[in-house]
Amino acid sequence: MIGGFFEFHRTLEIKIASFFKKTSDCSTIFTTGYTANSATLLSLLQKEDIAIVDRAVHTSVFEGLMMTNVRMFVHNNIEHLERIIKEVKGKYRTIMVIVDGVYSQDGDISLLNEIETITHLHGAFLMVDDAHGVGILGKTGRGVLEKFDLFDKVDLLTGTFSKTFANIGGYVIANPEITSFLKFQSRQQIFSATASPASTGIIKAIELIDEEPEWQQKLLENVRYFKNGLLYLGLDVGTTASAIIPVKIGDPHITGDVGRELLEAEIYTNPILYPAVAKKDARIRMSLMATHTKSQLDKALNAFEHVNKKYKISELKRRHEKESTQR
Ligand SMILES: Cc1ncc(COP(=O)(O)O)c(C=O)c1O
Repeated sequence: MIGGFFEFHRTLEIKIASFFKKTSDCSTIFTTGYTANSATLLSLLQKEDIAIVDRAVHTSVFEGLMMTNVRMFVHNNIEHLERIIKEVKGKYRTIMVIVDGVYSQDGDISLLNEIETITHLHGAFLMVDDAHGVGILGKTGRGVLEKFDLFDKVDLLTGTFSKTFANIGGYVIANPEITSFLKFQSRQQIFSATASPASTGIIKAIELIDEEPEWQQKLLENVRYFKNGLLYLGLDVGTTASAIIPVKIGDPHITGDVGRELLEAEIYTNPILYPAVAKKDARIRMSLMATHTKSQLDKALNAFEHVNKKYKISELKRRHEKESTQR
């Protein structure tokens, strides 16, 4: 309404809507994926409503829930989700279930089929943040909606242009009523600057997903190769099923040291510590790219072999977990 709305904004909205098989009045763009989540939820859910969220959703979701009631369910635990829905049913104006498509720290995938069935069975709404699934999952890279064939069954899909699309920005895909509501009610939409002309690059990035599908295959091949290499070294990559690869260590100090040593060996990774994950769950997290070459992946695996020998990471994780449980 105030920040500016030009031809390229409209083109981008139409492009991302049609990417998810929706009409042109079903998308809103935001300046980041973080704002897409937080602003949407802040404007939709009030004190009469309630959000039921998977404990592991992205922090931007939690920020969006400051004005509403919140219950959390154990990660990907369908029975727990259903129990909470039944408890709160009839007590609030709106119940919204919120999950990630792919979880950002473990790289594992939401049990979306079951979650969708239960959510709609009880008349609740479903919001999915698929920041890490789009471009990677699904036959043509449409993410979890395509993987589980749920194009028409998710009420709000949010995402980012900062990962697969290699730019900055976020989006929300919803029905025309919600879309229009967000454009005129979301304060972060109205009172903040809009995406700059540099975001026109995203339009081409979206087209490239269909024009050059070989990159998705190359990425999946890299994921397979790298994950197998880490497993061969005896490292714990958890339940990842995406391009996010964690190497679980446990001890936060050793995780910091390992991150530093990897950087010295020219391997850039993210050491992830509390509060991003539980105290006993420190890990090195990596995001693979389609453009990583085999020799780059081998270089990273060699560096992991070295730090594993030095810090005995494979044994350490088990010991740290045991000690934390005893404490
Ligand atoms: C699951 C998830 N949602 C949203 C975001 C925020 O996206 P952006 O970086 O575009 O703000 C991230 C960022 O890492 C994320 O992992």
